[in-house]
Amino acid sequence: MERLTVLYDNRAVDGFKADWGFSLLVELDDRDILFDTGAKPEILGENMDKAGVDPEEIDIVFISHNHWDHTGGLPVILEKNAEFELFVPEPDCLEFEERIPESSICVPVSSPTYITERVLSTGIMATGLESPQYEHSMIVLGEPGPVLITGCSHPGIVDIAKKAVSLTGEELFLIVGGFHLYRADREEIEEVSEELKRLTRFVAPCHCTGEEAIEIFRTSWKERFIPAAAGVEIPLEEA
Ligand SMILES: [Fe+2]
Ligand SMILES: [Fe+2]
Repeated sequence: MERLTVLYDNRAVDGFKADWGFSLLVELDDRDILFDTGAKPEILGENMDKAGVDPEEIDIVFISHNHWDHTGGLPVILEKNAEFELFVPEPDCLEFEERIPESSICVPVSSPTYITERVLSTGIMATGLESPQYEHSMIVLGEPGPVLITGCSHPGIVDIAKKAVSLTGEELFLIVGGFHLYRADREEIEEVSEELKRLTRFVAPCHCTGEEAIEIFRTSWKERFIPAAAGVEIPLEEA
């Protein structure tokens, strides 16, 4: 069965460890893709063990952006897996190239790109003028409709979702990941929530979305809200 498993998040279920950061496994019929790696190798390692995920089986590691709470768990993969493809924002590629073995490949991403037949990157989006920060998000195409996976959404969750809709030409099935609303006020959160309702059927906000925003989404989206935390599996099929 194709599914998503949250491996690292600020919150956790069923004996999984909670910690600030984000990582999610995308299991497809032909490929296993790790989206981000959380902050601490020991916590990612423990949660992977608990979920029965073998680092050696990972074909692709996708780093959304070069922040410690998304890149810190990379050693867990490096220890056991000498051959994987690493997709990172183009401006950060040199730094990552130094960290991975020669048998692995660092693929710089700038514009929207297919990374497998069914998985694409939105292409990098920049935030911050003086020291720009680059982030890309992942779109998984499948039976239920496009699934958008975000790391921190520094470029803005609504803009990222709009880009995903324009790239796929379809309403999204689900958005899962950090929406970066933990410092936003209620009014702003409600505005974002309403805008997203026109772009996706389901949401699974976690990580830096923040407790308050997650609760607002839960109340407002009702059966269109999917709870996400470390240890949660989301099947990629019609809900
Ligand atoms: Fe971040
Ligand atoms: Fe983050």
